[in-house]
Amino acid sequence: FQPKLLEGKHILITAGPTYEAIDAVRGITNRSSGKMGYAIAQAALEMGAAVTLISGPTALPKPHDAQSVDVTSAAEMLEAVKQHVAEADMFISVAAVADYRAARPSEQKIKKDDARLVLELTPNPDILTHVASLPKPPFCVGFAAESENLREHATAKRMKKNIPLLAANLAQQAIGRDDNELVLFDDAGEHLLPRADKLTLARALLRHAAALYKKGSR
Ligand code: C5P
Repeated sequence: FQPKLLEGKHILITAGPTYEAIDAVRGITNRSSGKMGYAIAQAALEMGAAVTLISGPTALPKPHDAQSVDVTSAAEMLEAVKQHVAEADMFISVAAVADYRAARPSEQKIKKDDARLVLELTPNPDILTHVASLPKPPFCVGFAAESENLREHATAKRMKKNIPLLAANLAQQAIGRDDNELVLFDDAGEHLLPRADKLTLARALLRHAAALYKKGSR
């Protein structure tokens, strides 16, 4: 049983990877199944929230009762977030957004030959930073997948992005799996959410976020 902690609240979630085209058939992406973001959408619905789920390409069924928006690239994800952020009380940025895209994507398939091929990349906008910098931002929750030094990187990331809550995990232990372990970082310090399936973790994360939101943390 989940108490309706988020009744009357609108939660905006990004999930999954983004895909940045190099040419008509090739692209750059991140490893992300979308499972964590979809589990958070599910848990938010259980807690009575209205949910908008903006998702990059995944193989997952859409949660019933969420408003779903499918996108491919980081630029499209940013546009979709801009369209929906005004009504959001909370923004949970779970998507594994590609940090770079091809500077000059080719409409036609690039033909191969034996020469070296240099691909020029340009940085993508940081969607979470954009939202957290709005004049009246929703309560922002970020994610960080690290391969080492979890605490150090997560704390630095929370400060840099200027967000009240960041959920961090070790990438090797999280990607594509049904279970995970999260460490939450906020102004009070760190809190371990021990290994569990992603829906259980999603519920615990939202209980923590809802409590901070209620207390009126930024
Ligand atoms: O800096 P890093 O990519 O590790 O930060 C991860 C957090 O920032 C995640 O919450 C992710 O959804 C968000 N992010 C974003 N847009 C980007 C890169 C990351 O919203 N271009």
